[in-house]
Amino acid sequence: MRSAQTRPRQAADLHQQLPELRPGQSVELLKELHILTRDGRLNQDTRRKLKQVYHLVQFIEPLLQEVLDQRGDVVLADHGAGKSYLGFILYDLFFRPRGVGTVCGIEVRTELVDRSRALAQRLGFERMQFLATTVHEALHHPDLPPTIDVVTALHACDTATDDAIRFGLARQARFMVLVPCCQAEVAGVLRRNKALSLARTPLAEIWRHPLHTREFGSQITNVLRCLQLEAHGYEVTVTELVGWEHSMKNELILARRMGAPRPNAQQKAATRLREVLQELQLKELASRFEV
Ligand SMILES: C[S@@+](CC[C@H](N)C(=O)[O-])C[C@H]1O[C@@H](n2cnc3c(N)ncnc32)[C@H](O)[C@@H]1O
Repeated sequence: MRSAQTRPRQAADLHQQLPELRPGQSVELLKELHILTRDGRLNQDTRRKLKQVYHLVQFIEPLLQEVLDQRGDVVLADHGAGKSYLGFILYDLFFRPRGVGTVCGIEVRTELVDRSRALAQRLGFERMQFLATTVHEALHHPDLPPTIDVVTALHACDTATDDAIRFGLARQARFMVLVPCCQAEVAGVLRRNKALSLARTPLAEIWRHPLHTREFGSQITNVLRCLQLEAHGYEVTVTELVGWEHSMKNELILARRMGAPRPNAQQKAATRLREVLQELQLKELASRFEV
């Protein structure tokens, strides 16, 4: 017989004993996501993981609520969803208790999509949908709802973040929440064209150490993404995903589509975007950041 210490704890007990859990939060889901151990405990690592997830969720919940208040429904598309832990947690904390709204996970790896579908079914998360497709192909996928209110892309690899932005622009998403991953494309073009651009200035130092070149490429990519979003009428906030210790990539880009077009501000951003591409000999990437 198991002792009280080792006996798996019941969900109701757990909610009393673990103040970190939110009321009604699915214990089964947290176990599936390995945030709770099999016997329902949080250890130092998983407690930190839960804190990180809440930190991100706290940025997204008010956006979902705003859309829901305005149109009585809300659809979120999560690009490069992986195991879909963000979608699952959001569904559990926001969509499930309200009985409304849909979460669509878009992920190219079929085995992850199959696993997510099975988990959603087991948990009875009926308004979760998963597509085994690329972000790029999702743009014209017939199974996605016509209206997408919120686009998320959390560490979606390389140019998948750019595809997610393009998707959000095409669907006129109200909000985009992006935590970009490493993007190699811009750094590659920078390297190739370095002789033409900054090589004769002191800024050539950027190319001396590959790590600096890569990070510079990453930063410029995000600068271009923000300008692209602004040129399309979004207001952009860039902040840090504090506490996201397991990743070096912790820049959070929040974009809100403004109600009315702002031609002057949009024009200014578009001009700046073109100037940065020109200055850094990145014009061949104009279509990537198209306005
Ligand atoms: C680093 S993981 C992040 C997963 C999840 N968003 C998270 O933060 O835990 C990136 C995921 O994006 C998927 N992915 C990469 N490129 C993609 C693309 N073009 N279309 C769809 N999924 C993509 C990968 O298969 C992988 O599961």
